[in-house]
Amino acid sequence: MSKLARDYPASAIRAMFERVAAYDGVTKLTVGEPDFDTPEHIVEAAIASLRAGETRYSANAGIPEFRSAIARHYGERWGRELDERNVMVAVGGMEALLLALSVVLDRGDDILVPDPAYPNYHGQIHMLGARAIRVPLSAAAGFRLTAADVEARLTPNTRAVLVNSPSNPLGVMIAEDELRALARLADERNFVLISDEVYDRIVYDGRRHLSVAAIDPAFDRFLIVNSLSKSFAMTGWRSGFVVGPASLIEPMPRMQEGITSCLPVFIQRAGIAALEGPESATQRMVDAYERRRDLVVAGIRATPGLDCIVPEGAFYLFADIRGTGRGSDEFANGLLEEQRVAVIPGTAFGESGEGFIRISFAANEATIQDALAGIGAYAAELG
Ligand SMILES: Cc1ncc(COP(=O)(O)O)c(C=O)c1O
Repeated sequence: MSKLARDYPASAIRAMFERVAAYDGVTKLTVGEPDFDTPEHIVEAAIASLRAGETRYSANAGIPEFRSAIARHYGERWGRELDERNVMVAVGGMEALLLALSVVLDRGDDILVPDPAYPNYHGQIHMLGARAIRVPLSAAAGFRLTAADVEARLTPNTRAVLVNSPSNPLGVMIAEDELRALARLADERNFVLISDEVYDRIVYDGRRHLSVAAIDPAFDRFLIVNSLSKSFAMTGWRSGFVVGPASLIEPMPRMQEGITSCLPVFIQRAGIAALEGPESATQRMVDAYERRRDLVVAGIRATPGLDCIVPEGAFYLFADIRGTGRGSDEFANGLLEEQRVAVIPGTAFGESGEGFIRISFAANEATIQDALAGIGAYAAELG
């Protein structure tokens, strides 16, 4: 067996799923997946495409209509001139990320990654033989990434910095002035900002998401990784894309040929329907997530020993359990065993997540209420 396979970092989120599967009747706030069905007009577009016989390979980069729809849509959102040469269609946000990393990192290069962050980043970086340098985020600073944090960790081999706003697992967004400072730093120190924006539409309290691509039309050291998974309740469709300068997008179709070749055409047609259909479908889901967020924040804050920062986006709350005197793993395992409530230990996202648990509120209100009752009872027991 290869060293690559032996050393591939396992996702501690998946490990928790497996632990949970050993118990019956568990209330789960573990999974980062919308509990809504994909909106009907999107499903219909896929069915129509299949009925029209669109069942063959497509161009590696995606069908021109989907690439153009993405370019039009994000061009308008970001106030930037984009066309299909700026867009690469991929199999989910995961493959979009792999392509983005692959065009900037050689073996032995460094990439900075916040800690805590989505653990899947590390598997891909490992596969490319690059080195992930963690940028620890501080709980005292509300886990907000700053350009100064990044600058302090840059090495001569740093080719890329990975950011994620709103963040999984933190629910926090990067402040506008910090994004601007990060873009300046990317220009000065010659690295590419890879920005994972899969939660760009799931933002609360009337906020608007600010993309790295929107801060300055002249800034071009960026690659935006996105997907329809979260915003349109389409996780199983595996519809993702990268948007960036044409020079960095250009090699991606060649690489795609040897990886997955292409995204099925009917899924791309569904993607066009998602981007060009009514915004109200997503808005209804976001309104529901916001109500659930309020419920979880109130429940956690009312629990002795627990606290949290209010999520600004995504559907996760990173709850501070340090007041209970328990570590993340101990708390999450104890909660599962004693109360049959499943959450993810903060350490699944990196060392800086110690003392925290991630609660996903992409679940219905009854499930959330049940879980909060279990968390309350468990915390009371810990006293
Ligand atoms: C931060 C982040 N990036 C990327 C992804 C992957 O998205 P996709 O399902 O489109 O591959 C996820 C999914 O949980 C995520 O949380």
